[in-house]
Amino acid sequence: MKFFLDTASLEEIKHIHSIGILDGVTTNPSIIASNKKSFKEVISEICKITNGPVSAEVLTTEYDSMLKEAHTLSEIAENVVIKVPLIMDGIKLVSELTKRKIKTNVTLCFSSSQALLAAKVGATYISPFIGRIDDTGYNGLELIKDIKTIYTNYNFKTEILAASIRHPMHIKEVSLIGADVATLPYAVILNLVKHPLTDIGLEKFIEDSKKIIP
Ligand code: E4P
Repeated sequence: MKFFLDTASLEEIKHIHSIGILDGVTTNPSIIASNKKSFKEVISEICKITNGPVSAEVLTTEYDSMLKEAHTLSEIAENVVIKVPLIMDGIKLVSELTKRKIKTNVTLCFSSSQALLAAKVGATYISPFIGRIDDTGYNGLELIKDIKTIYTNYNFKTEILAASIRHPMHIKEVSLIGADVATLPYAVILNLVKHPLTDIGLEKFIEDSKKIIP
């Protein structure tokens, strides 16, 4: 499973990259707005840290303006992936970008019929938001399962990018289902390594290691 980092913080990206577990980065308008630099500057700096796919989202919602934005964004660096909202103009845009061999990430996916549309037009990634579905009292993991079944049934090449991940159990579950990618907040990646028995065991080993005769 590939790990993308869901952030625009260069420090967080550098840290996870230095560990050797960073496969790419996703951003969205809210994440970019939390960074004081310009949109183009942030994406360009992220692309200097990683060669992996870096998702940059269009900020308009009409086909012609999104197409212009997509071209401007894809000129920033070779590894920029155009993030497109799941609306009909967005599906039309992905259809055109697929013909032009520009990679896309279709975002704000909350149903399997939406995911089917994205795959039909050749999206590189589909981003189902599982945490936001859980917030409404439904089970976001069911959506990942359904999309996996549909994509397998028809041999769609679109990769399932599990998004809106909130905790390590989400990672366990989406990897069991077979999602191709998970995009994770920094804090969740850090939590993946934690286990109380590891801490207790390590403390005892460190203590006992002092009694070892060299
Ligand atoms: C993914 O591409 C999105 O940026 C992200 O996962 C949304 O997560 P949130 O629901 O925690 O904002």
